[in-house]
Amino acid sequence: MALLVKNGEIVTASERYVADIWCEGETITRIDRNIAAPPGAEVIDAGGKHVFPGFIDPHVHIYLPFMGTFSKDTYETGSKAALVGGTTTLIEMCCPSRKDDALEAFELWMSQAVGKSACDFSFHMGVTKFDEKTASELREIVKRGISSFKIFLAYKGAFGIDDTELYQTLKLAKELGVIVTAHCENETLVAERQKELLAAGRTDPGQHHESRPPAVEAEGVHHLMTFAELTGAATYIVHLSCKEALDEAIAARQRGVRVNVETLIQYLVLDKTYAERPNFEGAKYVMSPPLRDARNQAVLWNGLRSGLVNTVATDHAPFDFQTQKPMGKDDFTKIPNGIPSLEERINLLYTHGVKAGKLDLHTFVDVASTQVAKIFDLFPRKGTIQPGSDADLVIFDPGYRGVISGKSQTMNVDYSAFEGWKIEGRPRDVTVRGQVAVKNGKFVGTVGRGQFLKRTPSHF
Ligand code: URP
Ligand code: ZN
Ligand code: ZN
Repeated sequence: MALLVKNGEIVTASERYVADIWCEGETITRIDRNIAAPPGAEVIDAGGKHVFPGFIDPHVHIYLPFMGTFSKDTYETGSKAALVGGTTTLIEMCCPSRKDDALEAFELWMSQAVGKSACDFSFHMGVTKFDEKTASELREIVKRGISSFKIFLAYKGAFGIDDTELYQTLKLAKELGVIVTAHCENETLVAERQKELLAAGRTDPGQHHESRPPAVEAEGVHHLMTFAELTGAATYIVHLSCKEALDEAIAARQRGVRVNVETLIQYLVLDKTYAERPNFEGAKYVMSPPLRDARNQAVLWNGLRSGLVNTVATDHAPFDFQTQKPMGKDDFTKIPNGIPSLEERINLLYTHGVKAGKLDLHTFVDVASTQVAKIFDLFPRKGTIQPGSDADLVIFDPGYRGVISGKSQTMNVDYSAFEGWKIEGRPRDVTVRGQVAVKNGKFVGTVGRGQFLKRTPSHF
């Protein structure tokens, strides 16, 4: 297998230049001007196009038993959607319930992906309880190639852990050099406010954000930061949505706490008025933390530009509007949480970030690929274009113009939260370890070829 990508403008987090990329087997082996194609090599003409390193989504749910149902994608549909959208590696949350064993859960999540994914993948190992058995299983899971944990300070009675478990998880993570990713919302405050709103007859989707105001998230971040400070563990706040929460993370970082911050494409382009749409339409926009007041968008874009926010993910969690969201028709607390967007992250970030003048091209690559690879122990195999790196390339057409629609999307869900939105630019061709997986915007890859990426912890 030999592939030559000619005449593209290579854009990484730090460089921008026109050159040819020669890939032998699964790896980039040479970058130069005027590389001649040997007989039999596959050649892609990338003239007039950007060539980005494969994008990495650090927060995805594919197999997710949650709120009495299951998210809709399989690895086959989800990985195809990821690739069409320019994402060549995804990191999924492995989310056992409190009664499940960690190792069994890890093997179950692996069995959903191995031989079924078209893109490369890894997992953040969910720690939804902590005891001696769990600790020894977590050690084993780390040996098998996992270098990040996931904890929830929200979802009382489901995934949420108590403070003793939090402390012990962070101590183990510090010992193993594992980074701990965390959903930060105070679960008690959420539960109490939900009860009050329902008792007052406020049941519609627009009440979801009333039950989880910014202070609830800020308190969650503050709480995690205190525990991180005292244990010395490296942390990563997932799906940060608002200024109040970011202020807590920055304050902690300034006093030496080890913290990275992820925001989501949804928070950058949507606001809470979407969840207030009438006739239950708002349910399409129910996720946690909730969509916020629009003033937060500028704070998050600015955070990306200034490096205060490290990454942009999707928290892809697809639930059908017709059959699953209505579980909460008369009670917003029962609406399955999630806004599907695995396929649209890069197109939306490019259109509303780069084209709108809010992000330069390097920052765009950095927050959607390079920093993810660095934080999660995948760099420089992933996250950049250089000899020795995997040949994961996105040949991106900045001249493309299109419209998002749930009817034409690859994700296995019956709606798009961005129906009718215009996009400017899209991935034209995408390669995964030297094999073309998307051609002219269409999936042409191999289901099952995606590899589990073994990671070695580095956050000691
Ligand atoms: O609403 C969300 N975020 N759904 C997925 C589960 C989670 O909290 O990440
Ligand atoms: Zn979460
Ligand atoms: Zn999530």
